[in-house]
Amino acid sequence: MNYRDRIIQLKKTKNAIILAHYYQIAEIQDIADYVGDSLGLAQQASQANSDLIVFAGVHFMAETAKILSPETKVVIPDIEAGCSLADSCPPEKFSAFRNKYPDHIVISYINCSAEIKTMSDVICTSGNAKQIVESFPEDQKIIFAPDKNLGAYINNITGKNMVLWDGSCEVHDILSTEAIINLKIEHPDAKLVAHPECKAQVLELADYIGSTTAMLNFTKTDHTQKYIIATETGILHQMRKNSPKKKFIIVPTDETCSCNDCPYMKLNTMEKLNKCMEDEVPEIKLDDKTIELAKKPINKMLDISRKLNLIK
Ligand code: 13P
Ligand code: SF4
Repeated sequence: MNYRDRIIQLKKTKNAIILAHYYQIAEIQDIADYVGDSLGLAQQASQANSDLIVFAGVHFMAETAKILSPETKVVIPDIEAGCSLADSCPPEKFSAFRNKYPDHIVISYINCSAEIKTMSDVICTSGNAKQIVESFPEDQKIIFAPDKNLGAYINNITGKNMVLWDGSCEVHDILSTEAIINLKIEHPDAKLVAHPECKAQVLELADYIGSTTAMLNFTKTDHTQKYIIATETGILHQMRKNSPKKKFIIVPTDETCSCNDCPYMKLNTMEKLNKCMEDEVPEIKLDDKTIELAKKPINKMLDISRKLNLIK
């Protein structure tokens, strides 16, 4: 039996649900019960009604699922699937940073460890960052962590002056501005669609900025036929599936490899997915105190998002 058939069988026998991010390889996206951005995935995890959550994504996403569904076993195909952005914010250093601003609240992007979440007042994702920030009074002082690019973008569009932690995503931060300018000259009829983890020089050139789900919805409903896509390559699978007649050009990086695959997301393979479902390891484990403290700011985000109809 091939991996696909075996995984489908395991889903049934183990009453398991596979949650996958858009940056996963196409075969994994196609076998998942739900494919989405971090906000959608968190919401799905909070409503999961299965005995096993198989998280095809990176560690902080699987951790979020565990925090939201602590009674359910959560496994991930490769425990090494981390995130450079989450890693750029070590808890001890962040704690010292936060202590320098006692009158500030902390809004953390969901791409951070459970420990950082326990030090946060509310979590946000790229799908709701603007609305979460705007849900606080105008004069509220805010620390935004860990993504300086997303934080600077939100400062820019809201007129806020949040204090930013100096972190970034190694995939989005090296997308080449020069390559984008050249692609725009070569394809003047194309729109540039960018993820807010990209640096400001890239975002300034964009026709549309949004989370992976928002980018996907934009390319689906917009009438242009050609798009330059500034994010990780995995999103192209759904874009092409949804709009088979449209042309999508992925922005290369500044590095010579020109590969903007997230090295962590792409650690997950069909073989590892099959094995983690068979053996139910590696499992995400968190202590009760961390779950209790980290759950509050995530639930606050979900509540605000529900009230604003960003999720159902
Ligand atoms: P989204 O929530 O927009 O899918 O982003 C997650 C991520 O890790 C982007 O690098
Ligand atoms: Fe983290 Fe960047 Fe990979 Fe997203 S693309 S999971 S932010 S390293």
